[in-house]
Amino acid sequence: MSRTITLLPGDGIGPEVTAATVRVLEAAGADIEWESHVVGAEAVALGDDPLPQRVLDSIRANGVCLKGPVTTPVGKGFRSINVQLRQALELYANLRPVRTIPGLPGRFDDVDLIIVRENTEGLYSGIEHQVVPGVVESLKIITEKASTRVARFAFEHARQNGRKRITAVHKANIMKLSDGLFLDCFRRVAEDYPEIEADDRIIDNMCMQLVLRPEAYDVLLLENLYGDIVSDLAAGLVGGLGVVPGANVGDGVAVFEAVHGSAPDIAGRGIANPLALMRSAILMLRYLGERQIAERVAGALRQVVVHDRLYTRDLGGTASTNELTEAVVNVLRSGEVEMGRASIA
Ligand code: NAI
Repeated sequence: MSRTITLLPGDGIGPEVTAATVRVLEAAGADIEWESHVVGAEAVALGDDPLPQRVLDSIRANGVCLKGPVTTPVGKGFRSINVQLRQALELYANLRPVRTIPGLPGRFDDVDLIIVRENTEGLYSGIEHQVVPGVVESLKIITEKASTRVARFAFEHARQNGRKRITAVHKANIMKLSDGLFLDCFRRVAEDYPEIEADDRIIDNMCMQLVLRPEAYDVLLLENLYGDIVSDLAAGLVGGLGVVPGANVGDGVAVFEAVHGSAPDIAGRGIANPLALMRSAILMLRYLGERQIAERVAGALRQVVVHDRLYTRDLGGTASTNELTEAVVNVLRSGEVEMGRASIA
């Protein structure tokens, strides 16, 4: 394999976890030339746009991007780079596998969820205005086109990965038109996949169900805001934000990134957990058809995290970002990676 991939290290803990991930991919034998770009506040500080056009061009040309988190200013400043990227590149499906890491102390030992989040519209359309002082309006956009294509993505993913059931999550009892349309599209698409069970839950009930018995669910399909919130909730069921990977997928283009943000509270301290981005890189390798390298990386993570129980602080351990990374690199270099056992990714 020889490929050019766009790399956005991001800010906060982004540069730490992306450097760690790039190092592991190199050790696994992935022949990747990285096209690295600066975005967000750092680009603005250099006198550039927060999301320069050449970044979008690079991702479109390469078809694939590995991305660290980017800080979004609160209440003012530029619009979220993450939301802009997803909208500009039409990365309509956000895929977040949430799975228990064997051996990690936690409340549940058998969570295996796939969260599919609509990634381009809903309340993230960014259409807000002040009606009169003291009254603002924020528009939730739901379209048949976007709801149908993300539902189809979820069913196709379920079919290709042997998943048995998809639960659509909504609030169509209150938002009868918008969430109602999302649900109708889901039900229409479901008719084409008779082998996959299709049901639905109201979002508030779903949150309670997930906290009580997450093992009862398989694939969840949600519109944008619910997907954002429920993925963080689900991350909390399996060890937190430091471990959950993600992929933003469109037609012929995909951006791989962890669920977590830039974690300013721990940035620059060398203690960030790089697992979430490393697992996102495994999703990237599989997307690229590089299954062998993907399984080598997964095998090395399994050795270090599941067998050797080397954890960063967020998981109750003491390992630094570098210590964890070096341990994974050493396993890869030793050539003694166990393939095909209970998976970590
Ligand atoms: P966050 O995910 O950055 O942090 C939440 C908590 O989780 C913090 O206590 C943090 O230390 C911890 N955490 C997150 N990732 C970790 C890791 N890899 N290892 C160890 N601990 C980790 O969420 P927060 O604080 O709400 O957002 C911070 C910034 O990140 C905001 O500007 C937000 O807009 C941005 N953000 C960017 C995202 C992206 O680039 N895709 C996604 C989510 C948030």
